[in-house]
Amino acid sequence: MSTQPPPISDQPVLKLLNVESAYGPIKAIRGVSLQVRRGEIATVLGSNGAGKTTILKTISGIIDPRKGSVEFKGEDITAKDPSYIVEEGLSHVPEGREVFPLLSVRDNLLMGAYTRADRDGVAKDIETVYGYFPILKERATQDAGLLSGGQQQMLAISRALMANPDLILLDEPSLGLSPKLTKEIFEIVVRINRERGTTILLVEQNANMALNASDYGYVLENGRIVMEDTCAHLREKDDIKEFYLGMKEDGVRGERRWKKKKTWR
Ligand SMILES: Nc1ncnc2c1ncn2[C@@H]1O[C@H](COP(=O)(O)OP(=O)(O)O)[C@@H](O)[C@H]1O
Ligand SMILES: [Mg+2]
Repeated sequence: MSTQPPPISDQPVLKLLNVESAYGPIKAIRGVSLQVRRGEIATVLGSNGAGKTTILKTISGIIDPRKGSVEFKGEDITAKDPSYIVEEGLSHVPEGREVFPLLSVRDNLLMGAYTRADRDGVAKDIETVYGYFPILKERATQDAGLLSGGQQQMLAISRALMANPDLILLDEPSLGLSPKLTKEIFEIVVRINRERGTTILLVEQNANMALNASDYGYVLENGRIVMEDTCAHLREKDDIKEFYLGMKEDGVRGERRWKKKKTWR
């Protein structure tokens, strides 16, 4: 089977222009502009409180921006109803997963497909997500609330896939997970992108994982984009290494080596 990824087009599937969102008097994002091209994994890196979740909530219509615009597949979706935005092909995996704890794993997946009428397609896609995450098949009839954090993250991603979206917004999938589980989940996210051609916008504090998985990246500080580049370039920048990858240049006996820094920032 070919695993050749579908090509990334130059056409942006998502475009934010000067978006500003606030909670009462608190401006959380201040004039954010970014683009996600069809077929790519894009990432927004930023520390706690930088405004990552606010960006995703503004895109999916949960928060209405004070200024600016959000365009999806060429259509202005600024401040449209969240359910309309899902129907247009944009699924949001929220921070903290938010699975329905009292519904079974399988019913959670069916909830993700509520906008679809093609029952055969839904049945086929359930098998596809079970293929990505076999543990969900084993736990299909169990209440989702009984799953571990990592399994709930798998379920939340799978539920988003069940809507058969063009674009998935992924809010900090690594939050609270072990490095091993985080790695497993990121590998599947990349597989989903490569095999299905699903475009992904991922926001993360875990810069290391995000930069390795993504094609293009933005750095968000205090609600503003302060840097953007291909992830290959971002990984090589000194300030990214120091502040976001936790590495510090340390010349010992003329040797260049990178040392793990204890603090995040
Ligand atoms: N519901 C809220 N009410 C008031 N302030 C909020 C709310 N949610 C987030 N904020 C503030 O907005 C800023 C950005 O938050 P958020 O988008 O959650 O950041 P991140 O996801 O990068 O951690 C922070 O200063 C945060 O305290
Ligand atoms: Mg957040």
